[in-house]
Amino acid sequence: MKLVKKGAEADIYLTIWHGKKSILKIRKRKEYRNEILDNRIRTLRIIREAKMISEVKQFGISTPLVYFVDQKKFEIYLQFVEGKLVRDLSNEMIIKTCEKIGKIVGILHKNGVMHGDITTSNFILSRSNLVILDFGLSQKTERIEDHAIDLRLFKEVLNSAHVEIVGLAWSSFLRGYGKIVGNQKKEQVVLQVSVIEKRGRYANVV
Ligand SMILES: Nc1ncnc2c1ncn2[C@@H]1O[C@H](COP(=O)(O)OP(=O)(O)O)[C@@H](O)[C@H]1O
Ligand SMILES: [Mg+2]
Repeated sequence: MKLVKKGAEADIYLTIWHGKKSILKIRKRKEYRNEILDNRIRTLRIIREAKMISEVKQFGISTPLVYFVDQKKFEIYLQFVEGKLVRDLSNEMIIKTCEKIGKIVGILHKNGVMHGDITTSNFILSRSNLVILDFGLSQKTERIEDHAIDLRLFKEVLNSAHVEIVGLAWSSFLRGYGKIVGNQKKEQVVLQVSVIEKRGRYANVV
């Protein structure tokens, strides 16, 4: 088993599941949290992730297959997706791919799903399509405010990890998003993003 990533929430390993290349994601214990509460949170997240990864396939979104969930060990075995993280693509490709990311986020929102962690590290460009990962923080919600949180996080990611292309990448994202949800909803969500941003700035001053 090869360690791929040691994260704050989970450790990720590359392994084999019944002869197939697989990603093993283990949700880690948070020492500062009460153990019973911590177990409950980890169980909830692992189940939510497995459920949502499979559910969104019906909307035509590409996600890894879930091979196995071990609730007691807080483990999930996923199909290994061959390809490159969007984060590691060339600037030109990131800008192009942002439109597809916008479409995927649009499809999720249209179907009442908020992802909760839209970053360029949670998309893999594989040979045939763009695959979305990491549904541990996803939620069923139709609220504009929740959908705006997805957009606002992605904008922050572009601002910090892809600062030289943030303008082009963001408008590419919005183009894709608008094509799916329509202009009216897009404008509503974008307006809500600016409300959140203003609130953030105000909070910093105070
Ligand atoms: N199914 C998968 N196929 C290939 N790589 C994956 C897969 N799942 C996760 N990874 C890799 O592991 C990283 C972290 O996984 P992720 O599910 O996003 O967990 P985290 O909560 O730590 O962000 C991803 O950014 C990606 O590089
Ligand atoms: Mg992730």
